[in-house]
Amino acid sequence: MKKSVAALEAYQAEKPVETIKAEYGLDSLARLSANESVYGPSPKVKEAIQAALATDLGYYPDGQATSLRQAVAELDQVAEDNLVFGVGADEIIQLLTRVVLESGQNIVIPDPTFGEYAIHAQIEQAETKRVAVFPETGGVDFEALAAAVDDQTAMVWLANPNNPTGVFESPTDIQVFLDQLDPSVVLVVDEAYIDFVDQADKTVAPLVADYSNLVVLRTLSKAYGLANLRIGYGIIADPLWTAMQAVRLPYNLSTLQIAGGTAAVLDQDYVQGNIEKIRVERAKFEAFLAANEIPFYPSQANFVWVKVGDAPQVGQDLLEAGFQINKRLNPEWVRITLGRPEENERLQEALLQALRLGDSK
Ligand SMILES: Cc1ncc(COP(=O)(O)O)c(C=O)c1O
Repeated sequence: MKKSVAALEAYQAEKPVETIKAEYGLDSLARLSANESVYGPSPKVKEAIQAALATDLGYYPDGQATSLRQAVAELDQVAEDNLVFGVGADEIIQLLTRVVLESGQNIVIPDPTFGEYAIHAQIEQAETKRVAVFPETGGVDFEALAAAVDDQTAMVWLANPNNPTGVFESPTDIQVFLDQLDPSVVLVVDEAYIDFVDQADKTVAPLVADYSNLVVLRTLSKAYGLANLRIGYGIIADPLWTAMQAVRLPYNLSTLQIAGGTAAVLDQDYVQGNIEKIRVERAKFEAFLAANEIPFYPSQANFVWVKVGDAPQVGQDLLEAGFQINKRLNPEWVRITLGRPEENERLQEALLQALRLGDSK
């Protein structure tokens, strides 16, 4: 076995809702721990999957995911041959690391950020250099990030908006940083939550045409409500695109995934409606936190990173009150996915109780 994997622990996947309900004797449980969409996918996804079941499942799927490729290229205004599809953005993260990173090199990431970047670096026997975000705002310290890049750095990863902080960085700031990077260093901007950002100028995807060391990641797991179907993609220029296509498993997406994903991307009315609902809930939840002087970073995602003091205890109290949130990422902070309006209202009450602020309000 590789030494680098001997120390790895398996990803702690969420327990199924029914298991937790039985464990705690709960009638209902709002799952607000994994940044999924509480609204689920467009009804057209199920119809498309049902129709796709008529195809002969005895044959391999379309290895180029053509219908999905065309729909995404049109939506994102990128070339079809700049797209690589994967089993979630997770597969693209794994694939990129495998293609780019050599043993003994390093990656540079903000801290905190999404855990998968460091895990895959470790598997490839590379080091991870972590650069703390600004404690007051949660913003990325681009200067310190640039200073951390050295001769052995092969990749820099930025989730934008960042997970778990929810903080968004402007495309201009990212481009300024990119301009300072040696072109041999790959900058991955993981835009898993970009759809939730409420300003027009939010993506760096158009820059892929000008910078062959820039990669943009997207997923249908969040705004599109399709976490279960497992579809993500990278927007990537040559020569990396060709390498990624060569290393990618030939039939990584099934016909059912391709059909469902295509239907989801094409139903923009449905997606945009849900994004709007989530933005409204985000504003309400942040107003509630501010009013109660509970510290948080302003979020542009579908979750909020909240400083609660004793994260395991508050997480446990909320679980017993019927809300599963993420309490495993930091001893003092929890990450709460925004739920439906009625869930968020009840959650506010439960959070005040868990923080023992309930009596004073
Ligand atoms: C920043 C970020 N990138 C990627 C992913 C992985 O998404 P997917 O479900 O497409 O694998 C997640 C999932 O939580 C995420 O938070």
